Amino acid sequence: MKKQIIIFDTTLRDGEQSPGCQLNTVEKIEVAKALDELGVDVIEAGFPISSPGDLHSVQEITKAVTRPTIAALSRAIKADIDAAVESLQFAKNKRIHTFISSSDIHIIHQFKSTREKIMEQGIEAIKYAKQFAQDVEFSAMDAGRTENEFLAKFIEAAIKAGATTVNIPDTTGYCLPEEFGAKIKYLFDHVKGIENVIVSVHCHNDLGLATANTISSVMNGVQQIEVTVNGVGERAGNTSLEEAVMILKTRGEDLQTTTNINTQKIYPTSRLVSRLMRMPVQANKAIVGRNAFAHSSGIHQNGILKNRFTYEIMNPEDVGINQSSLSLTARSGRAALQFHLERLGYKVSKEELDEIYKRFLEVADKKKDVNDNDLRMLMGEKTQPSGIKLVSAEIIAGTAKKPRATVSLKIGDKHRKSSSYGNGPVDAAFRAVNKVVQRDVILDEFLIQAMSGGSDDMGKVHIQITYKGNTYHGFGADTDIIVASVRAYIDALNKIV
Ligand code: KIV
Ligand code: ZN
Repeated sequence: MKKQIIIFDTTLRDGEQSPGCQLNTVEKIEVAKALDELGVDVIEAGFPISSPGDLHSVQEITKAVTRPTIAALSRAIKADIDAAVESLQFAKNKRIHTFISSSDIHIIHQFKSTREKIMEQGIEAIKYAKQFAQDVEFSAMDAGRTENEFLAKFIEAAIKAGATTVNIPDTTGYCLPEEFGAKIKYLFDHVKGIENVIVSVHCHNDLGLATANTISSVMNGVQQIEVTVNGVGERAGNTSLEEAVMILKTRGEDLQTTTNINTQKIYPTSRLVSRLMRMPVQANKAIVGRNAFAHSSGIHQNGILKNRFTYEIMNPEDVGINQSSLSLTARSGRAALQFHLERLGYKVSKEELDEIYKRFLEVADKKKDVNDNDLRMLMGEKTQPSGIKLVSAEIIAGTAKKPRATVSLKIGDKHRKSSSYGNGPVDAAFRAVNKVVQRDVILDEFLIQAMSGGSDDMGKVHIQITYKGNTYHGFGADTDIIVASVRAYIDALNKIV
């Protein structure tokens, strides 16, 4: 029988610690509900002693979400535990998660203490927490850099004191997968009573090894893994939920593992977290990145069209993505071109395809992505009037005046002009465009980057929008970032056919 791995999600605690990712209570509840639907077993909802607002959020989450266990974090300090207890008072299934460092580097330099004193403090905290909750998790912070013999002694004492889950964090993301797996095995071999508790890991991604270390520890017997959606978290982040879960599923026969996760909810949850935390997901991010299921080279596209498993090890539908995309670029082959032409209703002979393919390559050399309108043009059809062009944009912004934008657009052969106010110059400009285009689009992602650096640099904007359930991307570049934004927005709108 496959082993059920407990998914402990800390997006709302470790994830929310990332700079710029702070959420308000309403947003946290929205994420917690999505995690519930996703099927996570434990939600770490916050660190209540950190602020009254955080304590309140944990409390509200326990009222809104009752199936998963809700965990609240506390240092090994009575006041912290009291705050955690208060935050969990309405929880149906609650867990107090208390932690203290175990590595010499932390004990000596941060705590200016000794192993004995720190161990005593950790054990006292577990005993204190036990008075308020049956379910107590203990984390030995920086266990990754802790000497194994001392770690085993500490964990054994934690179990004796009443910890029901013992967590082994690689707090600094320092360990190598084999080394971390061996540490877990050492604990299973040397800690008395370990068979009676849940052993957990919590890995950080400083060297890009968080997922590898997590899987290595699963291979060495842990029952719980701590993860975050999109891998958000302190510094380079935590093990990403989507990666770990899809490894346990895709390689489930080899690892003999399973989880409670409804994997089809992975992509929508990733989008939600990215949007609310204002943290874009890198395009080539495993599982949930924009390109994770996009095939662009001719050889790959050819294989996918014959049998998708030639280049896809997972069904995009299994993670909630409607279908893999075959983007048309200068590297696409005839098979992909034919696929898209047929999708648009064109049947072409082999000779016609050869002919169109030559013209397609000329267009693709000039354009990054060839869209359906371009294909229609290649096939001799008039393009739709949707070809929207930016003629000019005038923006008023700053501290003295309400932001206002006037855009002049050319749609087909018609000129249109419109103005709007907004809560910022980009918002004003998009509203002005919307007045003309009148499409009910949702802006999912908005990312501005400098091309190379310097205040005189070109700004590059990437935008993701949703229209009638389909996702479209747009890019724009200009020395004026508002103009670059409008160009990106129009580029995305032009992809809606
Ligand atoms: O990284 C870490 O060690 C932590 C603990 C609080 C579990 O986040
Ligand atoms: Zn952490």
